Amino acid sequence: MGSITLQDTQPSGVYGTPPAELAETPEGALQFSPLIPGSRRLEEQEEGALGTMVVLAPHGTVERRYTIALALRALAPDGALTVLAPKDKGGSRIAKELKAFGCDVAETSRRHHRICACTRPALPAGLDQALAEGGPRLDDGLGLWTWPGIFSWNRIDPGSALLEQTLPALSGRGADFGCGLGILARTILTSPKVEHLAMIDIDRRAVDMAGRNIDDPRAELRWADIRSGTGLKGLDFAVMNPPFHDGGAEDQSLGQAFIRRAAEALRPGGVLWLVANRHLPYEAVLKSLFKRVTPKVEASGYKIYEAVK
Ligand SMILES: C[S@@+](CC[C@H](N)C(=O)[O-])C[C@H]1O[C@@H](n2cnc3c(N)ncnc32)[C@H](O)[C@@H]1O
Repeated sequence: MGSITLQDTQPSGVYGTPPAELAETPEGALQFSPLIPGSRRLEEQEEGALGTMVVLAPHGTVERRYTIALALRALAPDGALTVLAPKDKGGSRIAKELKAFGCDVAETSRRHHRICACTRPALPAGLDQALAEGGPRLDDGLGLWTWPGIFSWNRIDPGSALLEQTLPALSGRGADFGCGLGILARTILTSPKVEHLAMIDIDRRAVDMAGRNIDDPRAELRWADIRSGTGLKGLDFAVMNPPFHDGGAEDQSLGQAFIRRAAEALRPGGVLWLVANRHLPYEAVLKSLFKRVTPKVEASGYKIYEAVK
């Protein structure tokens, strides 16, 4: 009989969906990615509770160091940590970052990824600083709560700004598809005729921050993947600046799925307001699902459509 290891006695964790051929995720591992609805919160995980952790590391430096620091905090001393990422999406920096936390790292390279393995040192260095830099904060410039890693977390996206300026005063029941920090919702809810606004995002950090930014009983926050359906029906309006990246790669089908879900949720005569980069091919899908599609504004590489169901 082999000796009992930490992995046998303490739960395992995983962050994201690391390719199985690059890193083995133990069966039953607890999922901690904020981009997977229903997963646990790594920032609330009891310290030293996990026996092993596999992290598909995020691209942004501050977000990645924060995530690694959270993983180290959640691991028991000597718990096994594997951190990997594509080489050109932060992977080439992981070994150095782990060493700065005091880890003794073994690095391998496979299929354009860097894969770093280590165990948690008894006293990791610099955790508090990485946790403070990567955690939620009130951004003075934005006047909003934000969290590194959320879409456009430290500046207002120019497309969203253009849509904010263009939106008429809306009324009735509506939805903000991919609400982010709540920038569009903030504008939508200035109209007293809005009765209810469902704010949906796949990023739990965005939903958390939007909850702090929007203090309005008409707003309902949901952490969900819009592709799986929203259950919304008979809406008067929907608003979106749809995502066009999934896991770092351009994915035009994501925005098209958002448009389909909006068409399902709107009543006949209900209106969709959409902003997108001019090059994105949304017009055909809009025209196939809506009675009237009007390009309203085109500026700085963005296009705004009003589509009536
Ligand atoms: C271009 S951003 C717009 C954010 C916000 N509305 C704004 O204007 O700043 C798109 C948002 O959609 C979210 N998102 C991406 N894929 C999603 C999905 N499958 N379901 C729900 N939200 C998603 C992203 O997390 C992001 O917050």
